[in-house]
Amino acid sequence: MHLIRRNRILRQSPAIRAMVAETILKPSDFIAPLFITEGYGIKEEIPSMTGYYRRSVDFTVQEVKELWGLGIKSVLLFIKCKDELKDNKGTEALNPDGLMQRSIKAIKDACPEMVVMTDVALDPFSTYGHDGIVEGNEIVNDPTVEVLAKMSVSHAQAGADIVAPSDMMDGRILAIREALEQGGFTKTGIMAYSAKYASCFYGPFRDALDSAPGFGDKKTYQMDYANRREALKEVLMDVEEGADVVMVKPAMAYLDIIREVRDNVDVPVSAYHVSGEYAMIKAAAKMGWLDENKAIMESLTSIKRAGADLIATYFAKDAVKLING
Ligand code: PBG
Repeated sequence: MHLIRRNRILRQSPAIRAMVAETILKPSDFIAPLFITEGYGIKEEIPSMTGYYRRSVDFTVQEVKELWGLGIKSVLLFIKCKDELKDNKGTEALNPDGLMQRSIKAIKDACPEMVVMTDVALDPFSTYGHDGIVEGNEIVNDPTVEVLAKMSVSHAQAGADIVAPSDMMDGRILAIREALEQGGFTKTGIMAYSAKYASCFYGPFRDALDSAPGFGDKKTYQMDYANRREALKEVLMDVEEGADVVMVKPAMAYLDIIREVRDNVDVPVSAYHVSGEYAMIKAAAKMGWLDENKAIMESLTSIKRAGADLIATYFAKDAVKLING
């Protein structure tokens, strides 16, 4: 054979492959989600997310310091609200001494440089497990947005760097931006969960926070997974309303959406590799059916290759350890 082009030349050794690799993961690509619970000295494993934990604030602070030491620059906070504090108005979400607000302060005190992002949605605080206020069988948009704007200001007051509304109500980005401006929080960013799909892959997360919807599902606010154009509509509106970062969620079943969004906006794009995606890899690895470390690196690299500038993932720490060798 006389071939003019031999593609295998650039694959023949680890050194050559490293030289021509197009997508390289680095620690600052990752956002580490953290689940926080009341109490002291608590670190409890989430049954459907083996190897992932809910921690009390003191242990969370330790974890944040460790993550910073590894080169991770950002954490995304979720809290598990006590049942007796849940209602249909998000009262506890606005409590200046609530678990979220205390956690933000404690983390910023201990590790001021860590970029602290906070989940903004009502589901952990809701007796119904819905992201908004419930009236009859409906999740009402406008009254919910008012609470989300106040919640964002409350997080900013506690020291959050970036608020991350994950609720999919209409108009919330503009309302949050205006509320932050009015409160004088001109340095607080917004990472919008812009294209968030109604997905079965959130199952383990809802176990972690005990936040599964008590009735119905989330299809009247989260997107239909059949849709691609609609994701662009959502993302472009959120950028117009003032989002600093837009997100696609989940990640691996939505790589086409990540690429589409990356090609159409001029802000950083994040992708959320969600709890079910974590659980699938963990379960298969436990059975001996997949090599866990290889599955982690291939999955996260594919998400970055699709166009994600930032990846929220429960594998953040594992990935960084693998990257750092
Ligand atoms: C709540 C929220 C959810 C996730 C992040 N924020 C669950 C949901 O929308 O039901 C899912 C994260 C994951 O599955 O890892 N607004």
